Amino acid sequence: MNAQAESGELVLYCSVDENWCRVMAEAFQRETGINVLMTRRSSGETYAQIRAELGQPRGDIWWGGTGDPHLQAAQEGLTTAYQSPMLTELQDWAVSQAEASDYHTVGIYAGGLGFGYNTDLISDDAPACWSDLLDSRYEDDIQVANPNSSGTAYTLLATLVQLFGEDEAFDYLRELNNNVSQYTQSGSAPIRAAGTGETAIGIVFMHDAVAQAVQGSPIKTVAPCEGTGYEIGSMSIIEGGPNSENARIWYDWALSADAQALAVQANSFQVPSNVNAETPPQAPRLADIALIDYDFALYGSSEERTRLLERWDQEIGSLAR
Ligand code: F6P
Repeated sequence: MNAQAESGELVLYCSVDENWCRVMAEAFQRETGINVLMTRRSSGETYAQIRAELGQPRGDIWWGGTGDPHLQAAQEGLTTAYQSPMLTELQDWAVSQAEASDYHTVGIYAGGLGFGYNTDLISDDAPACWSDLLDSRYEDDIQVANPNSSGTAYTLLATLVQLFGEDEAFDYLRELNNNVSQYTQSGSAPIRAAGTGETAIGIVFMHDAVAQAVQGSPIKTVAPCEGTGYEIGSMSIIEGGPNSENARIWYDWALSADAQALAVQANSFQVPSNVNAETPPQAPRLADIALIDYDFALYGSSEERTRLLERWDQEIGSLAR
C-alpha cells in the first residue's frame, strides 16, 4: 500500500458528545491532512454496528464511549491489538485497560457516575443518594438512558449490581422505573433535559452534569452517598478497517496531551488519560468520589454484558412507561 493511497481518509466511529467528536475530527484533519468521516453513536450502538459489520468493516477507529463494550469488542475479535508508543505517557488506569484487553483497547479518559438535578425544580431536601431517587415525590421526574444503546446506563446497571447485589439491583431498577419518564438513547440526554427543565433529575456521568452547569444551566451535580461506579472511556482500532495506518496515526495523536486538551474547548470535563494533559478545574475529581472497585474484566466480558442486558430487557425494558 503506498503512502499516497493511505493518506486519504479515516472513518471515525465516535461515542462521546457530538461537539467533542467534531472538535477532534477537525483538529486531526487540520494537523494531518487526513479527511475524517465521522459518525456519532452511543457506546452500545457503536459496538452493535461494528459487530454487524464483522467481515466487511467500514470503520477504522472507535474513539470514546465507556470501556465495557470496548472490552467486549476486544474479546470478540472485533478490534485489533496495537501497542502505541504513547502508552508510557498514560495514567495507570488507562494502561490497565490496555493490558486487560491484550492491547485491543486503551483508556482515553475517566469519569464517575452520578446524577444531576435542576435547582429551579428541586430546592428543598435535595437527593443525595441512589436510594433518594426512589422517593415517590420524583414520580415522572427522572430520565436515564437505555443500557442497550448507552454505555452510561450500562455503567449504572453494573454499578448497582456491584453496590447492592444483582437481585437487589433489579429490585431497585423496578422501583426506579416508577419515577422514570423516559429511557433515552444517549447517555447524556437526560441531563440536557434537566438543564432545560424538561425533567428534574438526570442519571448521568458527573462530568456531563458539570458541563450543563458550566454552560449556565441550573444544574447541581451529585456523587451518590452509597458510592458509585466509573468509566474508563476507551479507544479501539477496528479489525480489518479500510485505513489501518491512518487509524494508528489517530490513535497515537488522540493519546497526546495536546489532543486531550481539546476536550475543554468542547465543554467536556472528563479526567484525561495522558499524565501531561491538564485536568480541567471543573472536572469532578475521582479522589473526592467514593468509587467502587469496578470489575471491568467481568462487566466488560461478552457473557456478563449480554446476560445483564437480556435481564434488563425482560425485567425493566418490558415495563417501559
Ligand atoms: O461524552 C460524554 C460521555 O458521557 C462520555 O464520558 C461517555 O463515555 C459517553 O458519553 C457515553 O455515552 P453513551 O452513554 O451515550 O454511550
